[in-house]
Amino acid sequence: MTAAIIDGKAAAAALREQIATEVARLRETDDLQPGLAVVLVGEDPASQVYVRNKGRQTVEAGMLSHTHRLRDDTSETELLALVADLNADPTVHGILVQLPLPPQIDEQRVICAIDPAKDVDGFHPLNAGALANGDPGALAPCTPVGCLLLLREQFDNDLAGQHALVIGRSNIVGKPMAQLLLQESCTVTIAHSRTRDLPALCRHADIVVAAVGRPGMVRGDWLKPGAVVIDVGINRLPGEGDKARLVGDVAFAEAREVAGAITPVPGGVGPMTIACLLRNTVVAACRQAA
Ligand code: GUN
Repeated sequence: MTAAIIDGKAAAAALREQIATEVARLRETDDLQPGLAVVLVGEDPASQVYVRNKGRQTVEAGMLSHTHRLRDDTSETELLALVADLNADPTVHGILVQLPLPPQIDEQRVICAIDPAKDVDGFHPLNAGALANGDPGALAPCTPVGCLLLLREQFDNDLAGQHALVIGRSNIVGKPMAQLLLQESCTVTIAHSRTRDLPALCRHADIVVAAVGRPGMVRGDWLKPGAVVIDVGINRLPGEGDKARLVGDVAFAEAREVAGAITPVPGGVGPMTIACLLRNTVVAACRQAA
């Protein structure tokens, strides 16, 4: 079998178009322009690319974009003061502090300082708790929501009863992904670095979501024939000249011979993440205006 390639770029473009239409309507009829503030501390090259893309796509969707670039040696107190200002700013409906943060800053303290109503990352414990409670209105983390939207397309919106294996237990992807799949009535297994016999677990899974950050870790012969594979990994390997080559957590060439459908890297999950961030910002703006 040769797997269908899941085109995340096209799905994200379609979602951004829907969002832009909704934003135009809000501006026209409700005089409401959703605004997203993105905070970047330091100069991590990958984070800089993500933050630039977020700003550009926010503007393209017709929203207000505020980007705050802070020095690498910014103190936690300075960052918390900026978050407090953004919490109080009525033109800012969504706040995203790009992770990872430099070591002098406690990430959890910063996440907890963001107004939960403006937490478009869905990382605040109130939002994580709402998701775990099965609240369908919870602001949920953007990467797993993007994965879910791609999966729903593959299964005609009915994931009930599918055995889903989530590899990775981070607060950003693995745990919320498992909660979202549970909400769709999947049977969910969460695997991690201490899991025994991961290949055997994988062979039982109808859906595999790989989010571990280890290039090519999931092999083709681990997969159940016809499985739907969502590769969240974005690993930079040395490429031609000084260009990095991006690869996922799944050995793509092998997996594509066994899977039913698979996301490529790049062009799979990545573009969906920002589209879902824009969507969360519109939802947050509408709730704040209500
Ligand atoms: N770093 C990597 N992914 C993310 C994300 O989804 N949100 C934030 N804030 N930082 C990240």
